[in-house]
Amino acid sequence: MDRRTFLNTTTVLGAGALLGMGALRWPPDVGIAERTASSGVDGESLAIRAERKGLLYGAAVNWSRLLDDPAYAQAIIDECGILVPENELKWSRIRPGPATFEFHAADGLIGFAEEHGLRFRGHPLVWHAALPPWFHEVVGPANAEAILVDHISRVCTRYSGRVHSWDVVNEAIYPAHGRADRMRVSPWLEFLGPDYVELAFYAAAEADPDAVLVYNDTRVDYATPEHAARREGVLRLLENLVASNVPIHALGIQAHLWGHESRFDPDAFTSFLRAVGDLGLDIYITEMDVTDQRLPGDITRRDQLVAKVYRDYLDAVLAVESVKVIMTWGLSDRYTWLKGTRPRRDGRAVRPLPLDDRMVRKPAWAAIAAAFDAARPR
Ligand code: G3I
Repeated sequence: MDRRTFLNTTTVLGAGALLGMGALRWPPDVGIAERTASSGVDGESLAIRAERKGLLYGAAVNWSRLLDDPAYAQAIIDECGILVPENELKWSRIRPGPATFEFHAADGLIGFAEEHGLRFRGHPLVWHAALPPWFHEVVGPANAEAILVDHISRVCTRYSGRVHSWDVVNEAIYPAHGRADRMRVSPWLEFLGPDYVELAFYAAAEADPDAVLVYNDTRVDYATPEHAARREGVLRLLENLVASNVPIHALGIQAHLWGHESRFDPDAFTSFLRAVGDLGLDIYITEMDVTDQRLPGDITRRDQLVAKVYRDYLDAVLAVESVKVIMTWGLSDRYTWLKGTRPRRDGRAVRPLPLDDRMVRKPAWAAIAAAFDAARPR
Protein backbone atom coordinates (compact mmCIF):
# COMPACT_ATOMS: atom_id res chain seq x y z
CA MET A 1 0.00 0.00 0.00
CA ASP A 2 1.45 3.37 -0.92
CA ARG A 3 0.46 6.97 -0.80
CA ARG A 4 -0.75 6.91 -4.42
CA THR A 5 -3.40 4.38 -3.38
CA PHE A 6 -4.63 6.78 -0.73
CA LEU A 7 -4.56 9.71 -3.13
CA ASN A 8 -6.50 7.69 -5.69
CA THR A 9 -9.03 6.78 -3.02
CA THR A 10 -9.62 10.40 -2.12
CA THR A 11 -9.76 11.42 -5.77
CA VAL A 12 -12.45 8.85 -6.47
CA LEU A 13 -14.49 9.73 -3.41
CA GLY A 14 -13.63 13.43 -3.40
CA ALA A 15 -13.29 15.50 -0.26
CA GLY A 16 -16.99 16.36 -0.37
CA ALA A 17 -17.96 12.70 -0.47
CA LEU A 18 -15.74 11.96 2.52
CA LEU A 19 -17.25 14.80 4.51
CA GLY A 20 -20.73 13.86 3.34
CA MET A 21 -20.42 10.46 5.01
CA GLY A 22 -21.45 11.95 8.33
CA ALA A 23 -24.69 9.99 8.46
CA LEU A 24 -22.73 6.75 8.28
CA ARG A 25 -20.40 7.90 11.01
CA TRP A 26 -23.23 8.47 13.43
CA PRO A 27 -24.77 5.05 13.93
CA PRO A 28 -28.50 4.93 14.65
CA ASP A 29 -29.76 5.40 18.21
CA VAL A 30 -28.63 2.48 20.30
CA GLY A 31 -31.20 2.95 23.04
CA ILE A 32 -29.40 4.90 25.73
CA ALA A 33 -32.74 6.10 27.08
CA GLU A 34 -34.09 2.58 27.53
CA ARG A 35 -30.86 1.32 29.01
CA THR A 36 -30.61 4.14 31.53
CA ALA A 37 -34.26 3.92 32.52
CA SER A 38 -33.88 0.23 33.33
CA SER A 39 -30.60 0.55 35.17
CA GLY A 40 -31.95 2.00 38.39
CA VAL A 41 -29.84 5.15 38.07
CA ASP A 42 -31.28 7.94 40.22
CA GLY A 43 -31.78 10.77 37.74
CA GLU A 44 -30.90 10.89 34.10
CA SER A 45 -27.39 9.88 33.16
CA LEU A 46 -24.81 12.14 31.56
CA ALA A 47 -25.21 10.07 28.38
CA ILE A 48 -28.91 10.77 28.05
CA ARG A 49 -28.57 14.47 28.94
CA ALA A 50 -25.89 14.77 26.27
CA GLU A 51 -27.85 12.79 23.71
CA ARG A 52 -30.85 15.09 24.14
CA LYS A 53 -28.67 17.94 22.86
CA GLY A 54 -27.17 15.99 19.97
CA LEU A 55 -23.99 15.39 21.98
CA LEU A 56 -22.19 12.23 23.03
CA TYR A 57 -20.80 11.80 26.55
CA GLY A 58 -18.44 9.03 27.60
CA ALA A 59 -15.24 8.12 29.40
CA ALA A 60 -11.88 6.39 29.10
CA VAL A 61 -12.01 2.87 30.51
CA ASN A 62 -9.67 0.05 31.54
CA TRP A 63 -10.42 -3.50 30.47
CA SER A 64 -8.94 -5.19 33.53
CA ARG A 65 -10.96 -2.93 35.85
CA LEU A 66 -14.17 -3.65 33.94
CA LEU A 67 -13.53 -7.36 34.41
CA ASP A 68 -12.65 -7.13 38.10
CA ASP A 69 -14.97 -4.44 39.42
CA PRO A 70 -18.72 -4.84 38.83
CA ALA A 71 -19.61 -1.51 40.49
CA TYR A 72 -17.26 0.33 38.14
CA ALA A 73 -18.59 -1.57 35.11
CA GLN A 74 -22.17 -0.74 36.09
CA ALA A 75 -21.32 2.95 36.52
CA ILE A 76 -19.76 3.00 33.05
CA ILE A 77 -22.87 1.36 31.58
CA ASP A 78 -25.14 3.75 33.46
CA GLU A 79 -23.43 7.05 32.64
CA CYS A 80 -21.71 6.64 29.28
CA GLY A 81 -22.77 6.67 25.65
CA ILE A 82 -19.27 6.13 24.28
CA LEU A 83 -16.05 4.54 25.58
CA VAL A 84 -12.38 4.91 24.73
CA PRO A 85 -9.59 2.59 25.92
CA GLU A 86 -7.24 4.42 28.28
CA ASN A 87 -4.28 2.26 27.21
CA GLU A 88 -5.45 -0.92 25.46
CA LEU A 89 -4.91 0.29 21.87
CA LYS A 90 -1.50 1.86 22.43
CA TRP A 91 1.49 0.44 20.58
CA SER A 92 3.00 -0.56 23.93
CA ARG A 93 0.01 -2.86 24.48
CA ILE A 94 -0.83 -4.21 21.05
CA ARG A 95 2.66 -4.51 19.55
CA PRO A 96 4.62 -6.97 21.73
CA GLY A 97 7.05 -7.52 18.84
CA PRO A 98 7.76 -6.01 15.43
CA ALA A 99 5.77 -8.73 13.68
CA THR A 100 3.18 -9.51 16.34
CA PHE A 101 -0.10 -8.00 17.46
CA GLU A 102 -1.99 -8.59 20.73
CA PHE A 103 -5.62 -7.56 20.61
CA HIS A 104 -7.09 -9.46 23.55
CA ALA A 105 -7.86 -6.46 25.77
CA ALA A 106 -8.96 -4.18 22.93
CA ASP A 107 -11.26 -6.93 21.61
CA GLY A 108 -12.71 -7.27 25.10
CA LEU A 109 -13.37 -3.56 25.38
CA ILE A 110 -15.06 -3.14 22.02
CA GLY A 111 -17.12 -6.25 22.75
CA PHE A 112 -18.19 -4.76 26.09
CA ALA A 113 -19.18 -1.52 24.37
CA GLU A 114 -21.24 -3.35 21.76
CA GLU A 115 -22.87 -5.63 24.31
CA HIS A 116 -24.10 -2.58 26.20
CA GLY A 117 -25.03 -0.43 23.20
CA LEU A 118 -22.16 2.01 23.69
CA ARG A 119 -20.16 3.61 20.91
CA PHE A 120 -16.41 3.16 20.87
CA ARG A 121 -13.45 5.45 20.10
CA GLY A 122 -10.01 4.23 19.10
CA HIS A 123 -6.97 5.90 20.71
CA PRO A 124 -4.26 6.47 19.47
CA LEU A 125 -2.98 5.19 16.12
CA VAL A 126 0.13 7.40 15.96
CA TRP A 127 1.79 8.89 19.03
CA HIS A 128 5.37 9.60 20.07
CA ALA A 129 4.75 8.01 23.48
CA ALA A 130 3.73 4.53 24.69
CA LEU A 131 5.92 2.91 22.04
CA PRO A 132 7.15 -0.64 22.70
CA PRO A 133 10.77 -1.34 23.71
CA TRP A 134 11.64 -2.78 20.27
CA PHE A 135 10.51 0.35 18.42
CA HIS A 136 13.75 2.31 18.52
CA GLU A 137 15.84 -0.71 17.57
CA VAL A 138 13.70 -1.65 14.60
CA VAL A 139 12.14 1.51 13.14
CA GLY A 140 14.13 4.03 11.08
CA PRO A 141 13.87 6.24 8.01
CA ALA A 142 13.97 3.30 5.59
CA ASN A 143 11.03 1.35 7.04
CA ALA A 144 9.01 3.87 9.06
CA GLU A 145 6.42 4.52 6.34
CA ALA A 146 5.75 0.82 5.78
CA ILE A 147 5.53 0.15 9.53
CA LEU A 148 3.23 3.11 10.16
CA VAL A 149 0.87 2.22 7.32
CA ASP A 150 0.88 -1.48 8.20
CA HIS A 151 0.04 -0.71 11.83
CA ILE A 152 -2.85 1.57 10.97
CA SER A 153 -4.16 -0.74 8.27
CA ARG A 154 -4.16 -3.79 10.53
CA VAL A 155 -5.68 -2.08 13.55
CA CYS A 156 -8.34 -0.13 11.66
CA THR A 157 -9.25 -3.07 9.43
CA ARG A 158 -9.70 -5.35 12.44
CA TYR A 159 -12.34 -3.02 13.89
CA SER A 160 -13.59 -1.46 10.66
CA GLY A 161 -17.21 -0.33 10.81
CA ARG A 162 -17.36 -0.74 14.61
CA VAL A 163 -15.51 2.41 15.68
CA HIS A 164 -17.18 5.80 16.01
CA SER A 165 -13.90 7.71 15.72
CA TRP A 166 -10.16 7.20 15.73
CA ASP A 167 -7.52 9.46 17.26
CA VAL A 168 -5.35 9.04 14.17
CA VAL A 169 -2.49 11.29 15.30
CA ASN A 170 -1.96 12.38 18.89
CA GLU A 171 0.09 15.36 20.11
CA ALA A 172 2.04 16.27 16.95
CA ILE A 173 2.44 19.92 17.98
CA TYR A 174 5.16 20.97 20.44
CA PRO A 175 6.30 24.58 19.95
CA ALA A 176 9.11 24.25 22.51
CA HIS A 177 11.00 22.07 20.01
CA GLY A 178 11.61 25.28 18.06
CA ARG A 179 10.45 24.36 14.57
CA ALA A 180 8.77 27.09 12.50
CA ASP A 181 5.75 24.81 11.93
CA ARG A 182 5.62 24.17 15.70
CA MET A 183 5.64 20.42 15.16
CA ARG A 184 7.00 17.99 17.71
CA VAL A 185 10.32 16.38 16.86
CA SER A 186 8.98 12.87 17.36
CA PRO A 187 10.43 9.67 15.90
CA TRP A 188 7.73 9.83 13.23
CA LEU A 189 8.72 13.36 12.24
CA GLU A 190 12.42 12.51 12.25
CA PHE A 191 11.91 9.44 10.07
CA LEU A 192 9.22 10.72 7.69
CA GLY A 193 9.06 14.49 7.96
CA PRO A 194 5.81 16.39 8.63
CA ASP A 195 3.94 14.39 5.96
CA TYR A 196 3.62 11.48 8.38
CA VAL A 197 0.44 13.13 9.62
CA GLU A 198 -1.36 13.02 6.29
CA LEU A 199 0.01 9.57 5.58
CA ALA A 200 -1.63 8.34 8.77
CA PHE A 201 -4.99 9.90 7.90
CA TYR A 202 -4.98 8.37 4.41
CA ALA A 203 -4.17 4.94 5.86
CA ALA A 204 -6.96 5.20 8.43
CA ALA A 205 -9.50 6.42 5.84
CA GLU A 206 -8.71 3.51 3.58
CA ALA A 207 -8.98 0.89 6.34
CA ASP A 208 -12.06 2.24 8.16
CA PRO A 209 -13.87 4.56 5.75
CA ASP A 210 -16.94 5.20 7.93
CA ALA A 211 -15.09 6.30 11.08
CA VAL A 212 -14.59 9.92 12.10
CA LEU A 213 -10.87 10.64 11.81
CA VAL A 214 -9.56 12.89 14.56
CA TYR A 215 -6.39 14.86 15.19
CA ASN A 216 -5.99 14.97 19.00
CA ASP A 217 -3.83 17.38 21.03
CA THR A 218 -3.24 18.76 24.50
CA ARG A 219 -2.49 21.98 26.41
CA VAL A 220 -4.42 24.35 24.15
CA ASP A 221 -6.96 25.55 26.73
CA TYR A 222 -5.43 28.41 28.68
CA ALA A 223 -4.55 32.03 27.99
CA THR A 224 -0.83 31.42 28.42
CA PRO A 225 1.95 31.90 25.86
CA GLU A 226 2.56 28.15 25.74
CA HIS A 227 -1.07 27.25 25.11
CA ALA A 228 -1.47 30.12 22.61
CA ALA A 229 1.54 28.83 20.62
CA ARG A 230 0.06 25.35 20.63
CA ARG A 231 -3.29 26.69 19.40
CA GLU A 232 -1.49 28.44 16.54
CA GLY A 233 0.42 25.29 15.66
CA VAL A 234 -2.68 23.10 15.76
CA LEU A 235 -4.68 25.54 13.67
CA ARG A 236 -1.96 25.79 11.04
CA LEU A 237 -1.65 22.01 10.85
CA LEU A 238 -5.42 21.63 10.46
CA GLU A 239 -5.58 24.38 7.82
CA ASN A 240 -2.90 22.63 5.78
CA LEU A 241 -4.56 19.21 6.07
CA VAL A 242 -7.97 20.57 5.08
CA ALA A 243 -6.48 22.63 2.19
CA SER A 244 -4.86 19.42 0.89
CA ASN A 245 -8.17 17.49 1.12
CA VAL A 246 -6.69 15.06 3.63
CA PRO A 247 -9.49 12.90 5.12
CA ILE A 248 -9.66 14.50 8.57
CA HIS A 249 -13.01 15.19 10.21
CA ALA A 250 -12.49 16.46 13.74
CA LEU A 251 -10.12 18.03 16.24
CA GLY A 252 -9.82 16.31 19.61
CA ILE A 253 -8.94 18.55 22.55
CA GLN A 254 -7.74 16.61 25.57
CA ALA A 255 -8.69 19.21 28.24
CA HIS A 256 -6.59 17.98 31.15
CA LEU A 257 -7.39 21.03 33.29
CA TRP A 258 -6.02 22.33 36.59
CA GLY A 259 -8.29 23.27 39.49
CA HIS A 260 -6.05 26.13 40.61
CA GLU A 261 -5.44 27.62 37.14
CA SER A 262 -7.26 30.92 36.67
CA ARG A 263 -5.95 31.77 33.20
CA PHE A 264 -8.91 30.41 31.25
CA ASP A 265 -10.20 32.99 28.79
CA PRO A 266 -13.46 31.73 27.24
CA ASP A 267 -13.33 34.31 24.43
CA ALA A 268 -9.79 33.48 23.33
CA PHE A 269 -10.52 29.77 23.55
CA THR A 270 -13.81 29.85 21.71
CA SER A 271 -12.39 32.00 18.94
CA PHE A 272 -9.89 29.17 18.39
CA LEU A 273 -12.74 26.64 18.42
CA ARG A 274 -14.72 28.71 15.91
CA ALA A 275 -11.70 28.94 13.62
CA VAL A 276 -11.46 25.14 13.72
CA GLY A 277 -15.21 24.84 13.08
CA ASP A 278 -14.88 27.22 10.11
CA LEU A 279 -12.56 24.65 8.52
CA GLY A 280 -15.50 22.25 8.44
CA LEU A 281 -14.16 20.15 11.32
CA ASP A 282 -16.08 18.92 14.34
CA ILE A 283 -14.55 19.31 17.79
CA TYR A 284 -14.40 16.60 20.43
CA ILE A 285 -13.33 17.16 24.03
CA THR A 286 -11.57 13.85 24.42
CA GLU A 287 -9.88 13.48 27.83
CA MET A 288 -11.34 15.98 30.27
CA ASP A 289 -10.42 15.91 33.95
CA VAL A 290 -9.57 18.51 36.59
CA THR A 291 -6.42 18.09 38.67
CA ASP A 292 -7.05 19.01 42.31
CA GLN A 293 -3.41 18.64 43.36
CA ARG A 294 -3.06 22.24 44.54
CA LEU A 295 -6.60 22.84 45.79
CA PRO A 296 -7.55 23.03 49.50
CA GLY A 297 -7.80 19.73 51.37
CA ASP A 298 -11.39 20.24 52.53
CA ILE A 299 -13.45 17.93 50.33
CA THR A 300 -16.57 20.08 50.11
CA ARG A 301 -14.58 23.13 49.05
CA ARG A 302 -12.34 21.13 46.73
CA ASP A 303 -15.27 19.46 45.00
CA GLN A 304 -16.93 22.87 44.48
CA LEU A 305 -13.79 24.29 42.88
CA VAL A 306 -13.35 21.27 40.61
CA ALA A 307 -17.02 21.47 39.62
CA LYS A 308 -16.68 25.15 38.76
CA VAL A 309 -13.82 24.39 36.39
CA TYR A 310 -15.94 21.74 34.64
CA ARG A 311 -18.91 24.12 34.38
CA ASP A 312 -16.98 27.16 33.14
CA TYR A 313 -15.09 25.15 30.55
CA LEU A 314 -18.12 23.23 29.29
CA ASP A 315 -20.31 26.34 29.15
CA ALA A 316 -17.67 27.94 26.94
CA VAL A 317 -17.09 25.01 24.60
CA LEU A 318 -20.73 23.99 24.31
CA ALA A 319 -21.57 27.48 23.03
CA VAL A 320 -19.70 26.42 19.89
CA GLU A 321 -21.92 24.33 17.63
CA SER A 322 -19.14 22.22 16.18
CA VAL A 323 -18.43 20.68 19.61
CA LYS A 324 -20.11 17.25 19.41
CA VAL A 325 -18.47 14.90 21.92
CA ILE A 326 -17.46 15.32 25.58
CA MET A 327 -15.33 12.57 27.14
CA THR A 328 -13.78 12.46 30.60
CA TRP A 329 -10.48 10.62 31.16
CA GLY A 330 -12.04 8.08 33.47
CA LEU A 331 -15.39 8.23 35.22
CA SER A 332 -14.66 7.55 38.88
CA ASP A 333 -11.93 8.80 41.21
CA ARG A 334 -11.35 5.11 42.01
CA TYR A 335 -9.40 4.84 38.76
CA THR A 336 -7.57 7.92 37.48
CA TRP A 337 -4.09 8.36 36.04
CA LEU A 338 -3.81 11.47 38.26
CA LYS A 339 -3.49 9.30 41.39
CA GLY A 340 0.01 8.34 40.34
CA THR A 341 1.10 11.33 38.27
CA ARG A 342 -0.32 14.28 40.22
CA PRO A 343 -0.87 13.16 43.83
CA ARG A 344 -1.65 15.68 46.54
CA ARG A 345 1.07 16.76 48.95
CA ASP A 346 -1.28 16.27 51.93
CA GLY A 347 -1.64 12.59 51.02
CA ARG A 348 -5.43 12.86 50.52
CA ALA A 349 -6.96 11.05 47.56
CA VAL A 350 -7.37 13.04 44.36
CA ARG A 351 -10.94 13.83 43.20
CA PRO A 352 -10.74 14.89 39.52
CA LEU A 353 -13.67 12.99 37.95
CA PRO A 354 -17.50 13.03 37.93
CA LEU A 355 -18.00 10.11 40.37
CA ASP A 356 -16.20 9.60 43.68
CA ASP A 357 -14.30 6.45 44.54
CA ARG A 358 -17.57 4.78 45.70
CA MET A 359 -19.20 5.49 42.31
CA VAL A 360 -21.34 8.26 43.85
CA ARG A 361 -22.07 11.38 41.79
CA LYS A 362 -20.10 14.45 42.90
CA PRO A 363 -20.51 18.19 42.28
CA ALA A 364 -18.36 17.65 39.17
CA TRP A 365 -21.06 15.29 37.86
CA ALA A 366 -23.75 17.89 38.60
CA ALA A 367 -21.72 20.57 36.83
CA ILE A 368 -21.39 18.46 33.70
CA ALA A 369 -25.09 17.56 33.84
CA ALA A 370 -26.07 21.22 34.22
CA ALA A 371 -23.79 22.27 31.35
CA PHE A 372 -25.38 19.62 29.11
CA ASP A 373 -28.89 20.69 30.19
CA ALA A 374 -28.06 24.34 29.39
CA ALA A 375 -26.46 23.60 26.01
CA ARG A 376 -28.22 24.50 22.77
CA PRO A 377 -29.22 21.42 20.78
CA ARG A 378 -27.07 20.68 17.76
O1 G3I B 1 0.36 -1.98 33.25
C1 G3I B 1 1.67 -1.69 33.77
C2 G3I B 1 1.93 -2.51 34.99
O2 G3I B 1 1.97 -3.87 34.63
C3 G3I B 1 3.26 -2.06 35.63
O3 G3I B 1 3.46 -2.76 36.81
C4 G3I B 1 3.24 -0.56 35.89
C5 G3I B 1 4.57 -0.07 36.44
O4 G3I B 1 4.76 1.29 36.14
O5 G3I B 1 2.98 0.11 34.69
C6 G3I B 1 1.74 -0.22 34.13
O6 G3I B 1 1.54 0.50 32.94
C7 G3I B 1 1.28 1.87 33.10
C8 G3I B 1 -0.07 2.16 32.45
O7 G3I B 1 -0.29 3.54 32.45
C9 G3I B 1 -1.23 1.49 33.20
O8 G3I B 1 -1.36 2.03 34.48
C10 G3I B 1 2.38 2.63 32.40
O9 G3I B 1 3.60 2.49 33.10
C11 G3I B 1 2.03 4.08 32.31
O10 G3I B 1 2.99 4.76 31.49
C12 G3I B 1 0.68 4.24 31.68
O11 G3I B 1 0.34 5.59 31.67
C13 G3I B 1 -0.67 5.96 30.77
C14 G3I B 1 -0.13 7.11 29.92
O12 G3I B 1 -1.18 7.64 29.09
C15 G3I B 1 1.00 6.66 29.00
O13 G3I B 1 0.55 5.74 28.04
C16 G3I B 1 -1.88 6.42 31.58
O14 G3I B 1 -2.47 5.29 32.23
C17 G3I B 1 -2.91 7.07 30.67
O15 G3I B 1 -3.94 7.66 31.44
C18 G3I B 1 -2.25 8.15 29.85
O16 G3I B 1 -3.21 8.67 28.95
C19 G3I B 1 -2.77 9.77 28.15
C20 G3I B 1 -3.45 9.66 26.80
O17 G3I B 1 -3.20 8.40 26.22
C21 G3I B 1 -3.00 10.79 25.87
N1 G3I B 1 -3.22 12.09 26.51
C22 G3I B 1 -2.64 12.24 27.83
C23 G3I B 1 -3.14 11.14 28.77
C24 G3I B 1 -2.63 11.32 30.18
O18 G3I B 1 -1.22 11.24 30.21
